[in-house]
Amino acid sequence: MTTPIVDVHLQPEDLNAALQTDVRDGLTSTPKELPPKYFYDDRGSRLFEDITRLPEYYPTRCEREILDRCAGHIAQASGADTLIELGSGTSEKTRLLLDAMVEGGRLRRFVPFDVSETTLRDAAAGIAREYPSIEVHGVVGDFDHHLPLLPGGGRRLVAFLGGTIGNFTPPDRKRFFAELVSGFEPGDGLLLGTDLVKDVGRLEAAYDDSAGVTADFNRNVLHVVNARLGADFDPDRFQHVAFFDLDNEWIEMRLRSRATHTVTVPGCDGLEVSFEAGEEMRTEISAKFRRPGVESELAAVGLELTEWWTDSAGDFALSLSVLR
Ligand code: SAH
Ligand code: AVI
Repeated sequence: MTTPIVDVHLQPEDLNAALQTDVRDGLTSTPKELPPKYFYDDRGSRLFEDITRLPEYYPTRCEREILDRCAGHIAQASGADTLIELGSGTSEKTRLLLDAMVEGGRLRRFVPFDVSETTLRDAAAGIAREYPSIEVHGVVGDFDHHLPLLPGGGRRLVAFLGGTIGNFTPPDRKRFFAELVSGFEPGDGLLLGTDLVKDVGRLEAAYDDSAGVTADFNRNVLHVVNARLGADFDPDRFQHVAFFDLDNEWIEMRLRSRATHTVTVPGCDGLEVSFEAGEEMRTEISAKFRRPGVESELAAVGLELTEWWTDSAGDFALSLSVLR
């Protein structure tokens, strides 16, 4: 077994400095907002794993069904010797792809990339153990800032699974695609998971489950701000809200203050923030897609969509695109 290399581009102090800026900006804007990347401390990463097993949360199962069916085809069509996975988390479904790529005989290197260091290190170590024939090179980073630091070389396939692309706003998504592709060589590919527009009832249930796990995940961002910036948020004073915005075709998660109160954030120079009863703060969007939109956003950065697979129910899509 080879020990995985792990590059850390995001030290805890960098993450805290970014959090400080984002919390100050987000809590002093109208309406208030906190970015979703801060959900994923160790507890938040575990809560996300719990979400993927909920009966209401279909995306993970759908994407696994597609990978089960198509991983061999993806391995062959991409011709890649390096698999990079952005927002890799536990890389659980990715093992289906790794199996097919190892079987195909070309894979030399796997590069998981995630903002959550513990999750990344655990996943990288597990994969290095399970796939001794490949080099595992983990990267702890933020894909809003560190895409240019991804290791280069070889024929690369970048996997961005789970529908995480939907957590960007449309302008941020455009910037993300452009920056990603600026580091591509002709022949490099993108394997992109996108959740699809569907019945509103099912969409809203997926983000407001009956066991309340998504509500805990949503409130976890307040625990993170408390732990890292010494704030005195009482998460129980905030109610989980999730609804499908029909105009923007995205799920929006918010935290609604149950009462008028003030929160202090010592890590932001003692910032005091007042919440009105009923005031809502946005914590995440999760955009849902249609094929023409995905195809044209990829084409706008020079990626040609070559494959589009969905699960049998047509709930979720995986697309393969390539830089010509
Ligand atoms: N790809 C996995 C996990 C999805 S959860 C799946 O399909 O199940 C989203 C993952 O993206 C988490 O592991 C989280 O830590 C990571 N993430 C969120 N924002 C990020 C950012 N800005 N940069 C890098 N990773 C990020
Ligand atoms: C990681 N991301 C794709 C998830 C999603 O569905 O947008 C995060 C999540 N938020 C609530 N439930 C799951």
